[in-house]
Amino acid sequence: MCGIVSVYMLAVPAVRTQERASAKPLDLIEWNGGKFLYGVDYYPEAWEEGQWEKDATLMQEAGINFVRLAEFAWVKMEPQQGRFNFDWLDRALQVLNAHGIKAILGTPTASPPAWLYEKYPDIAAMDPNGIRYRYGSRRNYCLHNPDFVAATRRIVTAIAEHYRDHPGVIGWQIDNELGDPKCFDPLSRVAFQKWCQRKYQTLDALNKAWGTVFWGHTYQAWSEIPLPWNTLENAHNPSLALDFDRFQSDSTHAYLDTQAAILRTMAPHQAVTHNEMGLYAGVDYYNLNRSVDFVAWDNYPMFEKDYAQYNGPGLAHDLMRGSKNNQNYMVMEQQGGLPGWSTFSGRQASPGLYRVWAYQSVAHGADGVCYFRWRTSRYGTEQYWQGVLDQDSFPNSRYKAVAQTGKELGQLTELLHGSKVVSPVALLVSPDSRWAFEIQPLVEGFHYDRQLHDFYDAFRRAGVSVDVAFPESDFSAYRMLVAPALFVTDQTLVDKLSAYVKNGGTLILSFRSGVKDEHNVVTNRTLPGAFAELAGVAIHDFDPQINEEQEVVGPGESHFPTCVWSDILEPTTAKIVATYGKGYYAGKAAVTENGVGKGWVYYVGSESTSPFFYDRLIARAAQKSSLPLNATLPQGVELAVRQKAGVKILFVLNYTDRAQTVALDQVYHNALTGRQEPLEVKIPAFDVKVLTTPSPGGPPAVR
Ligand code: GLA
Repeated sequence: MCGIVSVYMLAVPAVRTQERASAKPLDLIEWNGGKFLYGVDYYPEAWEEGQWEKDATLMQEAGINFVRLAEFAWVKMEPQQGRFNFDWLDRALQVLNAHGIKAILGTPTASPPAWLYEKYPDIAAMDPNGIRYRYGSRRNYCLHNPDFVAATRRIVTAIAEHYRDHPGVIGWQIDNELGDPKCFDPLSRVAFQKWCQRKYQTLDALNKAWGTVFWGHTYQAWSEIPLPWNTLENAHNPSLALDFDRFQSDSTHAYLDTQAAILRTMAPHQAVTHNEMGLYAGVDYYNLNRSVDFVAWDNYPMFEKDYAQYNGPGLAHDLMRGSKNNQNYMVMEQQGGLPGWSTFSGRQASPGLYRVWAYQSVAHGADGVCYFRWRTSRYGTEQYWQGVLDQDSFPNSRYKAVAQTGKELGQLTELLHGSKVVSPVALLVSPDSRWAFEIQPLVEGFHYDRQLHDFYDAFRRAGVSVDVAFPESDFSAYRMLVAPALFVTDQTLVDKLSAYVKNGGTLILSFRSGVKDEHNVVTNRTLPGAFAELAGVAIHDFDPQINEEQEVVGPGESHFPTCVWSDILEPTTAKIVATYGKGYYAGKAAVTENGVGKGWVYYVGSESTSPFFYDRLIARAAQKSSLPLNATLPQGVELAVRQKAGVKILFVLNYTDRAQTVALDQVYHNALTGRQEPLEVKIPAFDVKVLTTPSPGGPPAVR
């Protein structure tokens, strides 16, 4: 049946309800009727209807209480322009709802129908060589194409109109993993020129900010401004390139806003989110998330560094949480099987590890976990990307792990409700610096994200929770703030960091900080530029050294190999903590410590390959900050904590294939069994223990 069928249509509220995104944080468990959000990504459109009832029964038995649906089903919903069909989705919802399973609906814009491309070929994105991508994959659209935006409005309005009062629909996921591709077509160029005009007002200001005097790239009309498309030698002005990254991020944000505004107007009581990509750098998530009610992201631990050794996606979890001021979030795609498109991309993980990864999400602040996907597809590109079930729908070992986790999370919901991660330390991530390092990678072997990990992992090894802060975040609650390679800064951020230190904070900076202004232009001050006074050092010489040719001596007497860069530090007011061990600058300062106001500033001039270097360094800085560190955890074991009024909830996660023992600071109760655990807690292989402090004066929080 076609045509606009608004079964659930009620009067549209007169007032636009845009406030929710900025008002009181959404309590996800309350929003889901008191249940921890436990879900699967489900594609009923790809299976015989006769299968749906069996699926819903199996889901219910595994504790699943919601599904994400329809994010790629545009052509099913709008088979011809302006003619809509939601019958199939209504029927699927009916089956699911009858089993107590609600839905978050995807707006299907990540996969526009073939007919739309036939009618409007220019909606496809153009690559940097000026060639449009052909139809056949997904996410192939240009955000600046008015026909695409009109088509977006039409489908989002129709779907919202149809489902806004559906009792089984609780919210919306906008699009799917917004970000690439960047579009280099003429309309995008005009949009960029307008963006520049709004930002700089005059061409004079733009030419000055970008330093277009170089190579005579001065612009005399807005229409002359190019995109960072393919050029001879692939050379572009880094200032233009950074503004283009900001423009791209803003355009993505504006596109999300276009959809969010429709959904909020038509369905103000349903919540809006988007499935993000953890450490993906293409979008400034802090800005984007001003427009969602809660953060959701897609978590595939197997793609993370040392996933079997350590806490894999921990940093990505914390970045996602930090991108909306540490409000609890959800995982919209939690790895439910082996990943792979045309090839399987690794060895199978133990079923227990899928459960541990789900708990890791919870431990880092997720109040919802949704597995990608319910069942492996029989069709298309992702035939090798495993769901929880395989194509034969047999309740396999992964299903059993999911069902066990579902049962346990049901039991733990009351305890978890209202609890949060509270961290004494924050890691400052600068989207501008990340982009600038992508534009000019500095030296072979340098990776901004590895710098983040160097410090982050050290704190996590010491059992310390870390928040990820952005330049706009409030730093005041943190005892320590680590700002690795703060390459691009503006005066506002410099002032904020300086006030933070003077008020008693400890700041750790590392090499290449203070090098560029907000326009990606190199400072003419002695390095570390705007941070020279705060760090109490001057840098008149540096060595981009690679291949572990250098070493750092200290803290203490130890020698630590380095892998990249040496800032040769000349203390002005700082004290030397470590020196270089080799070459013409042997004995010169490599790490310094400077007392400023009530706080401390550390400057780390090089990067070491040794985790012990970072362990030592943070131990020293933590001592100055009166921050107690826990004993180092066994490798492959993570300790993460959530807390609420007087109650601590500990998650001790064992990612290894052998039992591990962790010595804890006090006696805890097992939140699932209610039994007291010994001080030395034993965690079986690929397993997790959830521990809690007893309720004051009473029995354990959960029996
Ligand atoms: C992403 C997408 C999903 C799916 C998976 C697996 O996370 O959001 O639609 O494609 O990757 O490839």
